[in-house]
Amino acid sequence: MSRKLYLISYGCQMNEYDSAKMADVLAASHGYQRTDNPDEADLLLLNTCSVREKAQEKVFSELGRWKEWKQAAPGRVIGVGGCVAAQEGQAITERQPLVDIVFGPQTLHRLPVLLDQVRATRRPAVDVSFPEIEKFDCLPEPRAQGPTAFVSIMEGCSKYCTFCVVPYTRGEEVSRPLDSVLTEIAQLAEQGVREVTLLGQNVNAYRGAMGARGETCDLALLIAYVARIPGIERIRYTTSHPAEFTDALIEAFAQEPKLASYLHLPVQSGSDRILGMMKRGYTRAQYLEKVRRVRAARPDISLSTDFIVGFPTETDDDFMRTMDLIAEAGFDCAFSFIYSPRPGTPAANLRDSVPLEEKQRRLEILQARIRALDGAFKRALVGTTQRVLVERPARRAGQIAGRTSTNRWVNFEGPASLIGRFVDVEITEALNNSLRGRLVQPAEMAA
Ligand code: SAM
Ligand code: F3S
Repeated sequence: MSRKLYLISYGCQMNEYDSAKMADVLAASHGYQRTDNPDEADLLLLNTCSVREKAQEKVFSELGRWKEWKQAAPGRVIGVGGCVAAQEGQAITERQPLVDIVFGPQTLHRLPVLLDQVRATRRPAVDVSFPEIEKFDCLPEPRAQGPTAFVSIMEGCSKYCTFCVVPYTRGEEVSRPLDSVLTEIAQLAEQGVREVTLLGQNVNAYRGAMGARGETCDLALLIAYVARIPGIERIRYTTSHPAEFTDALIEAFAQEPKLASYLHLPVQSGSDRILGMMKRGYTRAQYLEKVRRVRAARPDISLSTDFIVGFPTETDDDFMRTMDLIAEAGFDCAFSFIYSPRPGTPAANLRDSVPLEEKQRRLEILQARIRALDGAFKRALVGTTQRVLVERPARRAGQIAGRTSTNRWVNFEGPASLIGRFVDVEITEALNNSLRGRLVQPAEMAA
């Protein structure tokens, strides 16, 4: 009988990718299979996120709930991975003795060894080191989970924005060699993957080793290589840093039709004073100039961003600059957060003068504006025909669901046999979180 793994994953797409890799590694080493039912599992893994305080605290309240589960059967093991693990290390087992394994984002490939060690010694095993890119050399062949896949192309971040914990938990930027990335994508394509999202905390800093003479490949060139892999029809990437959003990347939107019409370019604030305090490395005007050029290269693009509201000392005037940047840039999607001081980051030492109620008020105003712009973007698609990659059955019987190039979900009547194919869909209605459409015809019978 195979062993069962119950995996809880928090946070970003990088964590989703890492969670899938944890499952792959344990399937290869111990025959583990993932289950949705914790009662049949003997291994529980929590893949954690520490970008904001709430996410971090959730980990300890979640762990407390697993006491009975652990005691209900002998030999059950609990492991904590991800950024909270990287940050707290051994302290996790001290604060919560239920935990047997602590591993970081860079040591998930060592899970099989850590698990054996715990079972042999009955003592906690902790490994949150940063063995650079060793992880990718040790992962088994990827297993496709449908027609789309995430592929991590670099790890860590060297930008050190003053509010952000990522450089401390995931380490400095390290790129995977070009060959390693292309091999993984080709293997996924052979298993039916049609769309890949290239992942990195600062993905446009990608500089993968290429060839024998020490040359490197940047993200724009990587996109060109990925586009040539048979079967890959759509390419996305995230997250881009505006300061490193190069001319070559802008040009790629004009030149590469397989690049999706969607760009996530986190701006954080519309106030130059706050951008300076955050050490973002660009001004509002520089950001807007890049947006203008991206739109010229790809007029139908969907532009998404991240905002932090209530950064220490943010005034009403700073916030108003953020609000009018929304209009000027024409975002149609955004992820917005109240500033959360992170231990060990420079901003955590600043006096946080903005009252919480005021931060909440600003967040609500900003989110209402973004909801309106997302609604307008979706309504503008009504009546158009969109190329949709069918990803799964929809919740409603007889319907299937997929995403447009602009990253909007569409539900429409159609047979499940179209899953994994690109089809043309006429958009008939814009709803709060998705679109409704009518199948026009299978656009392409990708091999
Ligand atoms: N690399 C990306 C960039 O160019 O900004 C961001 C990656 S970060 C992990 C994801 C988002 O979390 C950020 O864009 C920011 O909006 C948010 N974030 C990071 N640290 C935060 C903090 N201390 N408080 C609130 N939000 C935070
Ligand atoms: Fe964080 Fe800034 Fe890097 S937000 S992930 S330090 S680009």
